[in-house]
Parts: sequence; structure tokens; C-alpha cells
Amino acid sequence: MTQPIILAIESSCDETSASVIQAGKVLNNVIASQTVHQKYGGVVPELASRAHQQQIHHVVNEALAATGILTNQLNAIAFTRGPGLLGSLLVGVSFAKGMALGLQVPLIDVNHMEAHVLAHFIDDPKPAFPFLCLTVSGGHTQLVVVHDYLHMEVIGETRDDAIGEAFDKAAKMMDFPYPGGPLIDRFAQEGNAKAYSFPHTSIPGLDFSFSGIKTAFLYFLRDNKNTEPRFVELNKQNICASLQAHLVNMVMEKLKLAVDQTGINRVAIAGGVAANSGLRKSLQTQANQSGWDVFIPRFEYCTDNAAMIAIAAHYKFEAKRFASLNVAPLANLAIS
Ligand code: KG4
Ligand code: ZN
Repeated sequence: MTQPIILAIESSCDETSASVIQAGKVLNNVIASQTVHQKYGGVVPELASRAHQQQIHHVVNEALAATGILTNQLNAIAFTRGPGLLGSLLVGVSFAKGMALGLQVPLIDVNHMEAHVLAHFIDDPKPAFPFLCLTVSGGHTQLVVVHDYLHMEVIGETRDDAIGEAFDKAAKMMDFPYPGGPLIDRFAQEGNAKAYSFPHTSIPGLDFSFSGIKTAFLYFLRDNKNTEPRFVELNKQNICASLQAHLVNMVMEKLKLAVDQTGINRVAIAGGVAANSGLRKSLQTQANQSGWDVFIPRFEYCTDNAAMIAIAAHYKFEAKRFASLNVAPLANLAIS
């Protein structure tokens, strides 16, 4: 088959998304974000799975209708197997199984973390192998050596919180609405990154830890609010700029170490926090200084989306790596 057409579904957290890919070219990327979680200050798993259940049919139909491709032209159905929220994953897995069974086409399971990395192969320029990828999201923080489309090696990861969680929890401490990461980024752009400093809480080696900075930030706010109750309101730009610079430095430090240790200076970033303007800028500056070749995905392919599942599925289709109809979602799935 020369022009495989694959429908891909993403439902690991709070975005219901579908994408159609034909011959390795992503045709669209329909995303329905769930707003129901905002008032709770974080994703509520039970509500997320219900919202996926309500939206998935509509999202898949929209993705297909926009391309004019009929279901009987599909050569495979792909879905996110994990990691993610179990109830959310189950909706995508079950819908994909139903379609694959009904259409009598193969099923392709995709690892969400590998898909974040493979988002770099949706558009040009595409990195050559091997390259290093720093995957930074709400659920994960990983340093990966990407040997090939389907062969990735995790060389460092977080021992506790993910960087996105650190952004979101810090935002919550300042009473910002969920998800707070993008808001911190917005305020940071108007502030002075040197206004406040935080303790160095990094651990040795290539693993990450964000629990120390989270606690330090909590005490920093508490102490300052004791003397000025309106501390956050009056200084939010400077607080956000200083915290963001600190978090970005923490990951940049590990990235530099990874380049030194592996000798690989082709460097990519992926995942929701790759949308952060401070991280994008810092990576570009480091690249100019050290002669790194850097790859930064388009905003829409940083946060969760089905286009990245579609491109990953395309390479699995080429390698004939299909899933059986017995496949179950895995909430915690290590990168293969
Ligand atoms: O990859 P993603 O959409 O979902 C997971 O797989 O976790 O990442 C979501 C995370 C959230 O923590 C969100 O606050 C963060 O990415 N995020 C940002 C920015 N945009 C999204 N964090 C900092 N700055 C941003 N501009
Ligand atoms: Zn993600």
C-alpha cells in the first residue's frame, strides 16, 4: 500500500482530539478542549472521561469530514494507549477498537510520550537521528535519546513532579485559574526575571526534581504575604518572570549536561511546556552560543493533540507494528 490513510485519536488527559494522516502528511488536527475542569483548579479524572465520551464522536466526524475521506478509505485506526488517565484512555481505546473492528482494518497503539517526540516529524525541518529530546509536559519531564522513529532511550526523568505540574501548582498558589502555566508565561513576559531568586534544588545527574522548588515557592509567597497581603497582586509580573527563569534554568542545566555526556548536539523540545516562551528563547540562545542544532515544534503540536499520534502511527504502520484487539490502556507506560 503506497498511500496509507490513518485516523488517529488522542484522549489521554483533557483534550479530545482526532487527526487524519495520508502518506505521512497530516491533513488536520481537530482538538476539543475541556473547560469543565477550570473551576476545580485541575483535571478531574471522572469529568474528563465523561467529556471525552460526549465529544469523541463529534471530533472524529469533524476530522473526517474536513478531509472528505470516507471511513471505508481508512487503512488503520490509531489511538493513545498511555500514559494518561485510565478513564480518559479507555474512551479513545474503545472507540478506536470499535472502528477498527467495524471497518476490518488494523489497530495501532501509540505511546503518548513517543508521540510528543515524533511531533517533530509533522513539519520541516525534521531532525536527523540521533537527536536529544527534552519532553516537558503536565505529566512528564524526560530527556530522551531518539535513535530512530521507534527506538527511544530515556536517559533522565523526574523523580517527583513534572515541570508542567510545578508551573500549574505555583500558579494555583497565586490563585490563577487552571492551567496556570500559560498565564505564568504571559505575566513573565512583562516582568524582571532577576527580581527574586529561589534556592538551587536540583539533584545531581540527568534526573529532575521539582518538589523542592514547589515548597520553596510556597514559603516565599507565605513570607512575603505576611508583610504585604497584596504581594502577588502587586508583583505578579516579577514573580512569574523570576519563577519561570528559575524553572527554565533547571531544565537547561540538565540539557547541557545531556549534550556533554552523549556528544549529541541536535536538540529538540516537546510537550506542553515546550510552548513556554522563556524555554524557547533560552534554548535558542544556548544553541547560538554552543553551536547546537535546535528543533522547536509549532505551538499546536506542543500541547496534547492527535496529529502527533497520527505521525507516530504512520511510522508504526510502515513497520507493520499493529496492536491486537485485546490491547488495554496503560496508565503508566514506559517509553519503549
Ligand atoms: O503536553 P500537555 O498538553 O499535557 C500532558 O501530556 O501533560 O502539557 C500540559 C502542560 C500543563 O502543565 C500546562 O500548564 C503546560 O503544559 N503549559 C505551559 C505553557 N503552555 C502549556 N507551561 C508553561 N508555559 C506555557 N506557555
Ligand atoms: Zn502530553
